[in-house]
Amino acid sequence: MSIPEREHEHGSANSTTARLYGALGYGKDHFKVDQTNAAALDEILPGMRLIVPGNRACLRRMVATAADLGIRQYIDLGSGLPDQPPNLHEVAQRTVKDARFIYVDNDPMVCTHGRALLQGSGVTMIEADARDICALYRTYELLSVIETGRPVCVVLGAILHFFTDDEVKEVMEELYDFLAPGSLVLVTHATSDQPHYRPEQVQAARDFYEEQTGAQLYLRSVQEIADLVLPGCVPLRPGFVTTAAWHPDYEYESAMIPRAPYFTAVAAEVRRPVETRQYFLLGTTQEAEQ
Ligand SMILES: C[S@@+](CC[C@H](N)C(=O)[O-])C[C@H]1O[C@@H](n2cnc3c(N)ncnc32)[C@H](O)[C@@H]1O
Repeated sequence: MSIPEREHEHGSANSTTARLYGALGYGKDHFKVDQTNAAALDEILPGMRLIVPGNRACLRRMVATAADLGIRQYIDLGSGLPDQPPNLHEVAQRTVKDARFIYVDNDPMVCTHGRALLQGSGVTMIEADARDICALYRTYELLSVIETGRPVCVVLGAILHFFTDDEVKEVMEELYDFLAPGSLVLVTHATSDQPHYRPEQVQAARDFYEEQTGAQLYLRSVQEIADLVLPGCVPLRPGFVTTAAWHPDYEYESAMIPRAPYFTAVAAEVRRPVETRQYFLLGTTQEAEQ
């Protein structure tokens, strides 16, 4: 797959997506400018600081579910800077002691921190572009860890919204060529469907984010995510919900559900044959209007 140069990259970018994300959450490996940008974003779209801890907690619950289902191998694409423990390999290994976990990111700073902090038996950090799955699947690091005939849990946490539709399609098509039936795909994704915010507010936050990071954000609806990301998959319960509402088990999370901005979350099992279905985000006014 060829990766086109990004026309949209801003020369003035002063944060990276990984550092700004860390500054919005509980990360420690970022700079002052990232903290300033995080505070500005939280002013433009009040509640922004809840997105990252909510997303990370949701991914932990999703990975715990995959481990409960007996999945022994994991690939986290666009893994981001290490967080306060437990990181995702630790969550998987609580249940599946010998789970193998591959973290992948294309940001060298993320990989340096990852190699230093995300250590343990069966844990690997690979610096690679997640848009080139075929190249990733040719690396020694991946091939020496992943058994391709067996189910894999692929974590796509807050990464696909950086890819164009064509890139998402290609990534998923290539992934599905490698994923055995019974594999799980865990997705969290930025969405413009934010009932408690005006579209101008969401747009302003997006403009600021793009300006500061140089990344382009593609906000997608539930149906767009279903069509682009999950053909051939069957979502696990509860289907498409906000990250906070994906099997919440912390009081903190149920408290923050109502009026915070959110990512859409879905965990799906890879099956065949491919089917097309209609999906709606549960628990929003949108659902009530359908
Ligand atoms: C917003 S962070 C999400 C981190 C983590 N997945 C989570 O949900 O908590 C996005 C991460 O994706 C990485 N990323 C963006 N584009 C990528 C690409 N093409 N290949 C690999 N990693 C990428 C960034 O460097 C960043 O660390």
